[in-house]
Amino acid sequence: MTEQFINFVSIQLYKDKQEALYVQLYDQMRELIVTGKLSHGYLLPPVRKFAKFLQINAGTVMSAYKQLEKNGYIFSRAGSGSYVAELSSVVDNEDHDDKEEEIDAIEILSPKFDDKYINLASIALNPDLISVEAFKKVLIEVLDRDQGYAFGYQESQGFYPLRESIAEDLKRYGVKAEASNMQIISGAQQGIDIVAKALLNYGDYVFTENPTYPGAIAAFRSRGAKIVEISMEEDGIHIEELEEKLRKFRPKLIYVMPNIQNPTGSSYSITKRNRLMGLARYYNAIILEDDYISELNYGKEPMAPLKAIDRDDRVIYLKSFSKIFMPGLRLAFLTMPQRLIGKLLAIKHNSDISTSGLTQRAFDLYLRKGIWHEHITAIRKMYLERFKLTLAAIEEFLPKTVQCVKPQGGLSIWLTMPAGLSAKVIVEEARKRQVLITEGTPFFPRQAVDRHIRISFATATPVEIHNGVHIIGSILK
Ligand SMILES: Cc1ncc(COP(=O)(O)O)c(C=O)c1O
Repeated sequence: MTEQFINFVSIQLYKDKQEALYVQLYDQMRELIVTGKLSHGYLLPPVRKFAKFLQINAGTVMSAYKQLEKNGYIFSRAGSGSYVAELSSVVDNEDHDDKEEEIDAIEILSPKFDDKYINLASIALNPDLISVEAFKKVLIEVLDRDQGYAFGYQESQGFYPLRESIAEDLKRYGVKAEASNMQIISGAQQGIDIVAKALLNYGDYVFTENPTYPGAIAAFRSRGAKIVEISMEEDGIHIEELEEKLRKFRPKLIYVMPNIQNPTGSSYSITKRNRLMGLARYYNAIILEDDYISELNYGKEPMAPLKAIDRDDRVIYLKSFSKIFMPGLRLAFLTMPQRLIGKLLAIKHNSDISTSGLTQRAFDLYLRKGIWHEHITAIRKMYLERFKLTLAAIEEFLPKTVQCVKPQGGLSIWLTMPAGLSAKVIVEEARKRQVLITEGTPFFPRQAVDRHIRISFATATPVEIHNGVHIIGSILK
């Protein structure tokens, strides 16, 4: 026996056992890896030689390797073989109790608020600021115009004129979209879900920023996919870490928010946008760009989507109208890379047949009449004031040891507590004093970091923001 097989002498395979040979081999190799007998970076024997040593078919070894790779225990490099992966990066779905995390995510997605609280948690537009009258007018116009057709089954891909008006609107951001590669969806959450269904199978890798949006974590987990998280920096994703992990895991999908990331508020620098695109191209990954709020950009620099620099059609651009308009309308869209159109259309159709036709028709008129842009201009102006007020209150009331990175826009501020302070405790204490803030832990896909809170100014009035931050300051002090 050669040196090469010394680590595998313990492997015993029985043809008469109930389990298939490749499953037996998988289990025993997995055991060698988790017990550290084969460590990170160990080069596994080539399939044919190993099969000869074990006196089984090469196909059996191949199947075991494939399963190990799928579950993150090994990774392969083209032309050089299969290696043992870093165990800390393995999320073994069998051992993972997701139930509690799923409940956390649902709480974050649809929290219940009570009037007696100062609400610094929700990032949805204050219902009092929604221009109901303007929407009522377009609704009546649609009903007069389309009569019963407004209530018929809608084309699953979406109301064609709406897709056209959105495509037209996207031109101003440098995005070349067409009605034919656009899918109207019932909220961005559905978009994430259908992309996950189209691209991710059990055991596949998906990359996310760390921290990231909990609804995406839940959607990827529901596919049995393994989340590999990449740290966030002030100017976007950590590129070196991304590159290193791309080399190792070869994900099918990278989920990012290059503009005003949720929850950190960071926006990617131009350099990072270009590097991300280059790496995705090299490692052949699809990017899901979630743009949930870039209209609320308070900086001087315009915020073009990543999609605007997508030369080889690998970015799925996902845009929600919830945060800046009416979350209850359940309206969003995604642009589809040519090669994914068929798949995404089918999954959307199987999911809910179509997004409400009445809503789409009304929103189309809203866009065509220019009311949408008037609305955006008005709320941007108002939120800029609240943004400044929130920053001023943070400066005035919170200890200097609390880190606050000023975002370029959005509806919330992400704060980092000094070491030793539990964000969970602060959130709980604030609740007791009738201030609601969002705890940071559910935004971390794997290892929750209990040092962050997110303060939002979407719903609270200026006086409430001032008083709420004051109360948080007194808790911290
Ligand atoms: C980053 C991000 N993406 C998607 C969504 C879901 O949005 P929608 O209401 O359009 O489903 C949210 C909601 O909070 C979000 O924060």
